[in-house]
Amino acid sequence: MKIALFSTKPFDRRFFERANGKGRHEIHFLESRLSPETVALARGYPCICVFVNDQLDAEVISRLESGGTRFIALRCAGFNNVDLHALARAKLKLVHVPAYSPHAVAEHAAALVLGLNRHLPRAYNRVREGNFSLSGLEGFNLFGKTVGVIGTGRIGATFARIMKHGFGCRVIAFDPYINEECREMGVEYLSLHELYAVSDVISVHCPLNPKTHHLINGEAVARMKRGVMLINTSRGAVIDTLAVIEGLKSGRVGSLGIDVYEQEGDLFFEDLSDQVIQDDVFERLITFPNVLVTGHQGFFTEEALTAIAEETLDNISRLEAGGKCENEIVPERVLARNR
Ligand code: NAI
Repeated sequence: MKIALFSTKPFDRRFFERANGKGRHEIHFLESRLSPETVALARGYPCICVFVNDQLDAEVISRLESGGTRFIALRCAGFNNVDLHALARAKLKLVHVPAYSPHAVAEHAAALVLGLNRHLPRAYNRVREGNFSLSGLEGFNLFGKTVGVIGTGRIGATFARIMKHGFGCRVIAFDPYINEECREMGVEYLSLHELYAVSDVISVHCPLNPKTHHLINGEAVARMKRGVMLINTSRGAVIDTLAVIEGLKSGRVGSLGIDVYEQEGDLFFEDLSDQVIQDDVFERLITFPNVLVTGHQGFFTEEALTAIAEETLDNISRLEAGGKCENEIVPERVLARNR
């Protein structure tokens, strides 16, 4: 099948060319991000392949449909960038890669916990400058601490296992659905308010949807234990960044580690090092010594990239063959669930 692959980076080309082997699909790699301004590039392609910050709003979906596109293949798990109401009206099929490697993201969340707790960025910079002072680098033992996991799906459950079995933490969780695997490993399910009140570390692993948008807002921050470490590797808008900035200023939030940011579409995945960043909220965030930001790299491991490319192309082959694809997202079903 002829595929237009939007937002191509060199690593996409490398992993997709490898997964495509002798050329089961005809892939055209486009650097442009999909948006109303670039959607014309998709004209004539029966399939497009997109990533987390490509824009699939009502206008783009309608123009894709009129341009002859039938399939949209997300090469990621989350699908919060798709207007599901518009998709439900269109005759387009959408597939995603729900479980390429929960370890990749869960291990990155653990890296943020350790990096923040032991002040690794500051320590690294100090040692390079010949400054061996330990002042300000004090951390805490993770052993015995209470870790609250919001969303115990594939990634949240993997993170819970790392924190419980790797570090000896008490792991508590909130999720509307109980994951038996978590319960068996001794994770205690509590209400969100109880989780906020007792967690030393809170890590967010739920999807972004209308119910979880700004889940971590000012009211939630006010309920948290003073000095809590907050980690978000899910989607930026689950956190109300301004509320968390206030929490950092007051000391209620002791530290913040994020791999995702609400307005990341204007920043992440690009080299902007010779430009003036216009996002004042982001710039404020990175002035804090107790904030660690990575640019949406949780998925970025050899194993995850291999699995993403292979599964995306398998999804497309199944759609092309007209068979059932278990990774298809049926918008009506998701909308009913989120109601
Ligand atoms: P999953 O679908 O296996 O698990 C999500 C869990 O969140 C489910 O158990 C669900 O019941 C729960 N949930 C739904 N609404 C909730 C709510 N209101 N409160 C608490 N829990 C709720 O998804 P998976 O694979 O674990 O991924 C989680 C999220 O991680 C994705 O939606 C995506 O946004 C993000 N992600 C980030 C990556 C990165 O590179 N930083 C890479 C891959 C995924």
